[in-house]
Amino acid sequence: MNKRRILGLGLAAMMIFGTVGCSSSEGDDKSSDGGASGDLPKIGATVYKADDNFISSVRRELETNAKGVAELTVDDSQNDQAKQLDQIDTMIAKGAKVLAINLVDPKAATTVIEKAKSAELPVVFFNKEPDEAAMKSYDKAYYVGTISKESGVIQGEVITEQWNANKEKWDKNGDGKIQYVMIKGEPGHPDAEARTKYSIETINEAGIETEELAVDTGMWDAAKATEKMDAWLAKFGDKIEFVICNNDGMASGAIASLEKEGYFSGDKFMPVVGVDAIPEIITLIEKDKMAGTVLNDAVNQGKAVIDLSLNLANGKEPTEGTDWKLEGKAVRVPYVGITKSNLDQAK
Ligand code: GAL
Ligand code: CA
Repeated sequence: MNKRRILGLGLAAMMIFGTVGCSSSEGDDKSSDGGASGDLPKIGATVYKADDNFISSVRRELETNAKGVAELTVDDSQNDQAKQLDQIDTMIAKGAKVLAINLVDPKAATTVIEKAKSAELPVVFFNKEPDEAAMKSYDKAYYVGTISKESGVIQGEVITEQWNANKEKWDKNGDGKIQYVMIKGEPGHPDAEARTKYSIETINEAGIETEELAVDTGMWDAAKATEKMDAWLAKFGDKIEFVICNNDGMASGAIASLEKEGYFSGDKFMPVVGVDAIPEIITLIEKDKMAGTVLNDAVNQGKAVIDLSLNLANGKEPTEGTDWKLEGKAVRVPYVGITKSNLDQAK
């Protein structure tokens, strides 16, 4: 039923953005130089936490796209907002022409904007969306990311489609409702809040009732998700009929816990969904160990960050000479629902 929407979105994404070539990448531990130095404009970038699965893909795309066109440094803020602010001071002191910032705390946008303003530098935020008031406070502030709500809605559609096709087996207590546990990302993160809310709303709107057995944060992290799932399996066991995760890293952590309890061998199965479409998860979907995910397009988000940053560093309009469309002050890359039937798109 929802396949058309899922595929349609994918097609739309392809038409809007065309194909993006992928070349080799390089990186080191702390910061990296994305292009030969010299007269290339300096882009000072930060990632909130370099060992975050999805962010590591975005970082690779930043480096790939900056090669030969900009002198890019990418600092790892190690999930520490104070550290990130220091890193920004250093970038400015070293002559950055533009800042590309993946905030640790979305609420710190105002402080970053103050720094950018006093140095008269444009700033491109990505991945963690600042609130509207912060964005409006500076004409040279932009955002590259997604529409958070969309990932929740599409995840809800993936769950609905999969549940309807398998409910004979998956509705273990036969009450027609989905008894689920939810592993959330970082509380207060726009993506985490929207995914938690809209996944369930979408399932309910499709006429399927749900019952929440437990919800808690796994902070986007696989190991933390394994701990949560261990505890919930001990408490609820087979009363759990679906495991809904705000991202794939946590989904893989939940699957590790389920495997310890004998799931995914013989008849014992548990549907699990995530968001991001990281390579590890694609393999799990292929092997029928995972019900589905939602592609969070790191390739196009990374490319858009560099395209906008480079234009701004060169004093041009942010989207000049590119295919990106600004909605207000944001470039928003679409999500795509992924199940076994359209895995190729995620690959
Ligand atoms: C989300 C992504 C998560 C995590 C988070 C970090 O968009 O789905 O896996 O990377 O960003 O801010
Ligand atoms: Ca049920």
